Amino acid sequence: MEAASLLPGGVSLLPPHEEPPRLRPGAPSGQGRIAPVSPLPNYFLISSRLGFRCWTLDDLPLALALWGNPEVTRLLGGPFSPQEVKERLAREIAQYDASGLQYWPIFLRATDEHVGCAGLRPYRPSERIHELGFHLLTKFWGQGLAEEAARAVIAYAFGTLGANGLFAGHHPENAASRRILEKLGFRYTHDEVYPPTGLLNPSYFLPAPQ
Ligand SMILES: CC(C)(COP(=O)(O)OP(=O)(O)OC[C@H]1O[C@@H](n2cnc3c(N)ncnc32)[C@H](O)[C@@H]1OP(=O)(O)O)[C@@H](O)C(=O)NCCC(=O)NCCS
Repeated sequence: MEAASLLPGGVSLLPPHEEPPRLRPGAPSGQGRIAPVSPLPNYFLISSRLGFRCWTLDDLPLALALWGNPEVTRLLGGPFSPQEVKERLAREIAQYDASGLQYWPIFLRATDEHVGCAGLRPYRPSERIHELGFHLLTKFWGQGLAEEAARAVIAYAFGTLGANGLFAGHHPENAASRRILEKLGFRYTHDEVYPPTGLLNPSYFLPAPQ
């Protein structure tokens, strides 16, 4: 098996289908045999609790549970109709095809339960500066998962994609996002209009490590 690439911060980059085998729940143990769970979740990036993969059109129910939830999208320009969520999913898929960037769906590695999304979208592509974002289902708020996901994405952006810097912004009332960005080392740079809300969002920058 090809070894996983190690990124800073305990983040691992896995080639597709190369996740270490896991014990199937309830499988006989202590017999020296490992029964791989099937199908493999196809994570390309993992942190201690989370796995990242790419969106597919089959993920519409997951997308509806996330971006169709008015509490999740309250500060992101929502609520969004099912048709708008469907279009958003299609945009994420098309964007990955065009740029290799996406707000990737994230899952609890222990259960494969869908947690939300975290990732990148083009911001200033010619300068290899990407935008960082994270959206979690409400039941996962307050457990440090957004910060953990963001740290994995940052390691991937600088370690694998060779990004020169990351941009991030947040709704003026989104104190949790502000706190996370500051903990991640982002520095406030300016206010910038966020088209979905029309509001001026505090905006931040994180340069690539020297
Ligand atoms: C914003 C969001 C991603 C936070 O996710 P989370 O997993 O709960 O965040 P974390 O647990 O990693 O960290 C939140 C931090 O903000 C702090 N925080 C939470 N609410 C806060 C508030 N009202 N005021 C100040 N700090 C707050 C937490 O205490 C924590 O800091 P700490 O670790 O120092 O205690 C989540 O609420 C979400 O998905 N919201 C909807 C989508 C969204 O708004 N995304 C952000 C777009 S930029």
